[in-house]
Amino acid sequence: MQAVILAGGKATRMRPLTLHTPKPIVPIVGRPFLAYTLDMLRRAHVREVTLALSYQPQKIEDMFGDGSHSGVRLRYIVESLPLGTAGAVRNAREHIDTRAIVLNGDILTDVNLTAVLTAHRESGAAATIVLAPVDNPRAYGVVETDETGRVTHFLEKPAADQELPTNNVNAGIYVIEPEVLTYMPAGETVTFEYDLFPALLEQGVHVQSFTAGGYWTDIGTPRRFLRANLDVLAGRLGPTNVPVRETVERADPKAEIDALSWLDPSVTVKAGAQIVNSVIEDNCVIEERALIENAVIRRASRVGQSATVRDSVIGQSTHVGRFSVVSGAAIGDKSTVTDYSQLGEMR
Ligand code: GTP
Repeated sequence: MQAVILAGGKATRMRPLTLHTPKPIVPIVGRPFLAYTLDMLRRAHVREVTLALSYQPQKIEDMFGDGSHSGVRLRYIVESLPLGTAGAVRNAREHIDTRAIVLNGDILTDVNLTAVLTAHRESGAAATIVLAPVDNPRAYGVVETDETGRVTHFLEKPAADQELPTNNVNAGIYVIEPEVLTYMPAGETVTFEYDLFPALLEQGVHVQSFTAGGYWTDIGTPRRFLRANLDVLAGRLGPTNVPVRETVERADPKAEIDALSWLDPSVTVKAGAQIVNSVIEDNCVIEERALIENAVIRRASRVGQSATVRDSVIGQSTHVGRFSVVSGAAIGDKSTVTDYSQLGEMR
């Protein structure tokens, strides 16, 4: 079984976190995001994976190499200009000679791909779309089906006043038979959601759905990225993904680190600092009496004495000054928040 991971988007909505790091390798609890996707594919016995890249491809290739550390064989196909989600798969078609799983490279889920493949085979469909029920379907593509699960209609990012028939959205995971690619509408960029799937329905091609239970989110915005980190800490992605925290040698005995938080062992935490439900990556320094709560602090950053970082993501090599408050914010890499700043929480 083979898979194509779509990982070439510019990730504009996730800026500033993706200015220097492509979305597929932004870490979730210290592991590059793509590692979770490769785990899921390996569990479904997928061994051949093509990564369709465009934005900052070298950084991804440098990190994952030939895939041998991840237990899969990785192949890279780089688009000089993004071709759209379906265009990217068409571009890789010489490697897709049999049924394939196609995944967006920005979804975190514990969906059972083996069950998806079985359902696809049994339905005899040309394509199967995994659906995920969500609370806020308007931000996604809503997919309507008949009572047998056959897809009947797509509603991409519906308007605020439009009544919705379902809260099942396109989860960004598809199983496709190779002939599906022959229905591709002409055009420079072709997406699954706006172009290919609607074209398939128009031609009467059988597109089936599979509704996933369990955990599903995408990490397309800083807010969702933060939530995905906290969900992994809370074990919502399943017990095998709950991170193990190694001893943090440079944590002062007078610092408080709760049991949920994950810190890289290289982190320094000084006396009186408090870390609650947070992720702190390698080589960070948390100074005396700083409070970090429901936050992700990316690598090599420093949070100054008595500063508070809450419900926020702090980029790499960033300095949060003494006595400042950062709340509900996403701060880019190499930034300086000057002492006594009040970001998101003005007195
Ligand atoms: P935004 O710019 O914030 O919309 O993010 P994005 O560029 O990641 O787009 P979107 O979230 O719609 O993409 C869903 C998935 O498809 C992501 O994993 C993208 O990397 C991937 N993707 C989107 N467009 C392309 C493309 O043209 N080529 C390839 N190879 N992948 C793409």
